Amino acid sequence: MTENNDGIKRIAVMTSGGDAPGMNAALRAVVRTALAYQLDVFGIHQAYYGLLHDRLERLGARDVGGIIQKGGTVLQTARLPEFSQVEVQKEALANLRKHEIDALVVIGGDGSLRGAHALHLLGMPVVGVPASIDNDIWGTNMAIGVDTAINTILDAIDKVRDTASSHQRTFLIETMGRDNGYLALMAGISGGAEVTLIPEHPVTLEEVQRRVQHAYVRGKSHAIIINAEGSGIKSEDIVHYLKDHNFGYDIRMTILGHVQRGGSPSGFDRLLATRLGHGAVECLVNGQTDVMVGLDGRRIRAVPIDDVINNERSANLQYYALIELLAR
Ligand code: F6P
Repeated sequence: MTENNDGIKRIAVMTSGGDAPGMNAALRAVVRTALAYQLDVFGIHQAYYGLLHDRLERLGARDVGGIIQKGGTVLQTARLPEFSQVEVQKEALANLRKHEIDALVVIGGDGSLRGAHALHLLGMPVVGVPASIDNDIWGTNMAIGVDTAINTILDAIDKVRDTASSHQRTFLIETMGRDNGYLALMAGISGGAEVTLIPEHPVTLEEVQRRVQHAYVRGKSHAIIINAEGSGIKSEDIVHYLKDHNFGYDIRMTILGHVQRGGSPSGFDRLLATRLGHGAVECLVNGQTDVMVGLDGRRIRAVPIDDVINNERSANLQYYALIELLAR
């Protein structure tokens, strides 16, 4: 039997915020690890909204069988902006107390971790598991869902490149990432884009046209522009600008949207999610609270949630220089 030296007997777990491929793998690891420690485990349906409406359900080993390969989250998720209010937090806490929950695992992004921190301040032990395709969570090299989202974007780029090269067209592909350019950067490098636009490195419409024009001058038969949704330039404005300034080449636009949030998690994400879910329960039974488990190189390491929510993780601009260098 695995030793539990903190007297925790019953935990709850939720998936919160934007769903991410791999959340189910993390949930499975949390439940199975907790059961190995002879803990009771409750799943919270629909994140903080469900906690507020007392949607808790006891989970057993079989309840998380056959989900490691599933995208989305079997517990479902929701966004609840009003959870920033202490009164709402106290109502939610009362439901945890009603079910005699000793500790909570929150699988989600920045906003979800803020909610976990708030419950810690009210006296509930919590551990966070980073899950967001944006990879904008400080304290971990990678969040759950990022690798799968990158592969989804690359699949789209490769398919678009087939038709772009057949028609000598320029294609603008818009990626998600909210205010972070990580997804666009990784897609730009791995997808071989001619132009990659990210929030961390603003450019003008004139500069975009110059770069694309230059690609054709260098003899390319097509061009791919990756535009991060938070880049500061609207995708449709780029398309209109290029069309209106006798650009000389046909241009089309593909907005990937929520396709990037779906799909069966990659092997990397399944492994990461499993390690993080297991690590979260290890932290709780060892008496740690108000920490997030993250990937530090090859190790799983717990970092204070206060540091996570008060630090920005922005895209590495060295990658940006690499894209520029190789898009010749
Ligand atoms: O945070 C993940 C994310 O997919 C962002 O990249 C995107 O901007 C946002 O969620 C979309 O939010 P919603 O699913 O609520 O429309």
